[in-house]
Amino acid sequence: MSAAPRTVLTASPEEAAAIRAAVRTPDLNLFEGRARVATTDDAAALTDLLSDPAVSDPIYDLPRPIDLANVTAWIETAGALRERGEALLLVTLDEADAVAGYSLFTVWPERASAEIAGARRADLQGSGGGAGGAARSFGWMFDALGVRLIGVTAALDNHRSARIIAAAGFTSMGVRDCLRPDGSTRSSLYWEMTREAWHRRIRAQRAAPPRPHGPQA
Ligand SMILES: CC(C)(COP(=O)(O)OP(=O)(O)OC[C@H]1O[C@@H](n2cnc3c(N)ncnc32)[C@H](O)[C@@H]1OP(=O)(O)O)[C@@H](O)C(=O)NCCC(=O)NCCS
Repeated sequence: MSAAPRTVLTASPEEAAAIRAAVRTPDLNLFEGRARVATTDDAAALTDLLSDPAVSDPIYDLPRPIDLANVTAWIETAGALRERGEALLLVTLDEADAVAGYSLFTVWPERASAEIAGARRADLQGSGGGAGGAARSFGWMFDALGVRLIGVTAALDNHRSARIIAAAGFTSMGVRDCLRPDGSTRSSLYWEMTREAWHRRIRAQRAAPPRPHGPQA
């Protein structure tokens, strides 16, 4: 049910083909986290994860109700879209190799654009790792998938996500209606970031002098 970004880019046929290939065979070494492509073997663990409202309530495009059959079908749909180079569903793993979260990348190769949705297990939320994890995902989408534009949405009351997205330097573009799988709409905050702006920001951060440690005079 994801909607393509408002800004419309046009990819060359070669660029679109390269993005499709990167989605089909993602380079997860560049992901810098413990992640793998979700398969139906993950259906039970993902159903457990998503059954927690603290994980799934803020996300509009999940299958509902969250049960084994719907989650299995969701994984299969994502797998079919991955074959076309248009979506990628990853599970992230904790130290014990248990499912600790998921990321769903929806990709529009002809527009060199993508969207990300995802969540962390409730016991890992609020631990301060959200911004770093999100930044790694954004960088990976630009560098490994090769898209030039990312659009993201968050529920109007999802202050944590809004903070992370703003901290990553995304440009706020107001509110947009997102379509849920059941056809209803959810008003969402909406942001975009271009690859050029992302790399400019990374270069500026690297060039900035390190912050002083300890109490300031
Ligand atoms: C969104 C999510 C991935 C963020 O991960 P996290 O580990 O919880 O994030 P953090 O603990 O790093 O918190 C992120 C920021 O929000 C801030 N924050 C935490 N609770 C907050 C609140 N109630 N109001 C405002 N800011 C809040 C934190 O201080 C942190 O900001 P900082 O880095 O400037 O200190 C995670 O909370 C999650 O999975 N939520 C459920 C699903 C979801 O919302 N997905 C995103 C849909 S867009």
